[in-house]
Amino acid sequence: MDNIPFEQSRLRLERLIEVNQLLMNTVDAKSVVKLILDSATELFSAEACSIALIDLNDQQLNFAFSSGGADVGEFRMALGEGIIGTVAETGKGIISNDVSRDPRFFKQVDQETGFKTQSVLCAALKQGGETIGAIEVLNTRNPKGFTEADLKFLTTFCGPAGAAIERAKAFSMTENVKNAFEEIVQNHYRFIIGKSKAMQSVLDMARRVAPMKTTVLLLGESGTGKEVMARAIHQWSPRAAHPFIAVNCVALTPELMESELFGHEKGSFTGAFAQKKGKFEVAQGGTIFLDEIGDLSASLQTRLLRVLQEREFQRVGGSKNIQADVRVLAATNRDLQQAIKAGDFREDLYYRLNVVSVTMPALRERSQDIAALAAYFIRKHCHEVKRSPMTLAPSALACLESYPWPGNVRELQNTIERAVVLAPEPVITREDLPAEICHQNSVRTNGVPEIDDDGDSLLMAEAVDRFKRKLIRKTLEKMGGNQSETAKALGMRSSNLSRIMKQLGLR
Ligand SMILES: Nc1ncnc2c1ncn2[C@@H]1O[C@H](COP(=O)(O)OP(=O)(O)OP(=O)(O)O)[C@@H](O)[C@H]1O
Ligand SMILES: [Mg+2]
Repeated sequence: MDNIPFEQSRLRLERLIEVNQLLMNTVDAKSVVKLILDSATELFSAEACSIALIDLNDQQLNFAFSSGGADVGEFRMALGEGIIGTVAETGKGIISNDVSRDPRFFKQVDQETGFKTQSVLCAALKQGGETIGAIEVLNTRNPKGFTEADLKFLTTFCGPAGAAIERAKAFSMTENVKNAFEEIVQNHYRFIIGKSKAMQSVLDMARRVAPMKTTVLLLGESGTGKEVMARAIHQWSPRAAHPFIAVNCVALTPELMESELFGHEKGSFTGAFAQKKGKFEVAQGGTIFLDEIGDLSASLQTRLLRVLQEREFQRVGGSKNIQADVRVLAATNRDLQQAIKAGDFREDLYYRLNVVSVTMPALRERSQDIAALAAYFIRKHCHEVKRSPMTLAPSALACLESYPWPGNVRELQNTIERAVVLAPEPVITREDLPAEICHQNSVRTNGVPEIDDDGDSLLMAEAVDRFKRKLIRKTLEKMGGNQSETAKALGMRSSNLSRIMKQLGLR
């Protein structure tokens, strides 16, 4: 076995310890791979480095290449293909100081990267005795070529490198779990999106009144999130563990509404076959949300006023007093002052309800919230329809931000839901939005990459991606869905096509 000079070996060890330290503090997968590639290139005075990891789903290799700190290229190749594929398959290291004479050498990677490989040193990455991939270092500057001592050192380096990769994998898993958990928390606590000033002051007020038993009147145009806010107030209150009961005051006739709210005794009216608890009873200890309160009939307004004053009620046809330990939240998009003037709403009830009022701002008054709301709805609907994650093109966001949203957040949500279902690409563009929202819609052309009227609003990268997607789709169609024929027709390697398709969200 060749010996490398003591000094060189000491320096290498020192550097390895440093790299190990860096790896210990890096958890993001991309950064880990980059760090491994760059440090191995440097440790072995080489020109480039590759790393291949076995994809357990299909036993293919995910292959990353970096030369001289340049951008990392990524490919996929078969296990057993090339020197690195052989090492990943067998777990045994390889030294190949003249690849032109090595039948295991796989020329296509050089063709793809433009790199000229001369010598290769490759060792297996192992975790718990299992081979998880391999690292190869290319073109040593040492005139003697790669040595056995180099292989031993690379194998040592593979220890901390493999551990860092496993940590990054575990981290990305915990990241996913964390995201899923946040989603649950968000739904549970009715997370309200709104960083705008208008929304912040409303949220501030709601948080302050939430812990009290105070009646709150929620005002605002249709679709501004009054019910969302009512649920949030309940969740932020000490009543959160008890029921939140929403009642729509326009849904029923006044008679049925009375029994709906306060319940009835058996036989109290035709059709009352059994005793029934009303919503006030069901909500005991919790919150009742009286939606569209402006549409409550005159008789029920009187009855509700009494309940609010006396904090007790009787079922329809009953005589027993029932305590109402219920917090009342009410909402309307009607102008109650106007309704009072017109004699449609009791003024005394209005004052009872309006102890504190919270007015939800219209969406056009808080366009700063549109980006976050849109992103939230995209995530939500992609999850619902099982589409892989989508994004919103800057030009589409600009459209959403300049539209006046008469239907407020509900209309925005419907618009996004429609776009998530209909958009052909993973990037939602202006074309995927209804014409009335993006009246500047561009004309769809066939086959040729379209340019918007004001083409500069479509970013270059976005336009190029769109062209690539269209071209790949069309060629795939022509080739009857055969991917390797498609790759041939496009003049590229199949693995390269499949990588690009993955990047473009076509798989
Ligand atoms: N800040 C927000 N964050 C997330 N989703 C929201 C927000 N505001 C509203 N939404 C969503 O928008 C839709 C409309 O909200 P909501 O039903 O609370 O409005 P509303 O004011 O009660 O409307 P209406 O007066 O028509 O009854 C719902 O689907 C809700 O989930
Ligand atoms: Mg509502």
